[in-house]
Amino acid sequence: MAEFSRILVTTDLSDQALPGVVRAASLSRLLGSEVVLLLVVEDDLPPILGLPSDSERDRILETHRERAAEALTEYAGEHLVGCQVETAAVLGVAAREIVAYAKENAVDLIVMASHGYGPIRQILLGSTTERVLHHAPCPVLVTPSRGG
Ligand SMILES: Nc1ncnc2c1ncn2[C@@H]1O[C@H](COP(=O)(O)OP(=O)(O)OP(=O)(O)O)[C@@H](O)[C@H]1O
Ligand SMILES: [Mg+2]
Repeated sequence: MAEFSRILVTTDLSDQALPGVVRAASLSRLLGSEVVLLLVVEDDLPPILGLPSDSERDRILETHRERAAEALTEYAGEHLVGCQVETAAVLGVAAREIVAYAKENAVDLIVMASHGYGPIRQILLGSTTERVLHHAPCPVLVTPSRGG
């Protein structure tokens, strides 16, 4: 189906994110769409680390990004079998990077789960999903997370 030729699916690698990935995989197989699996590595290094400099902090974050990129490739091999898939691991603020990626890469559907690693379960949507829904340039398909 031409209008969903490129699907962006997001993950923080939590179990809660998996239903979105599973749904994107089945849509991709059904429609013959390309899938991009995106993970954003956020700067959550505690200030108490007292890192010597910004460049040291950047170096640590870049190491986290490289590890995440490897984990993502493995994850795609496990959960997006039979799909034409690319992976992307970027640094930044999750919702902002997801929306920017969709805008810059002609994405025509974003698929994501309702929740991720965050601790609060009683709210309807996690903050990343909520922000993406507010700013996305294309339709967003939100799947319920297990127990969410
Ligand atoms: N760092 C990230 N990189 C890529 N996708 C993410 C990231 N964080 C969240 N997402 C996507 O957003 C979905 C919902 O996660 P979200 O962060 O909104 O909820 P939460 O973690 O339960 O709550 P909160 O982060 O608001 O405490 C996840 O299933 C995942 O698809
Ligand atoms: Mg979260």
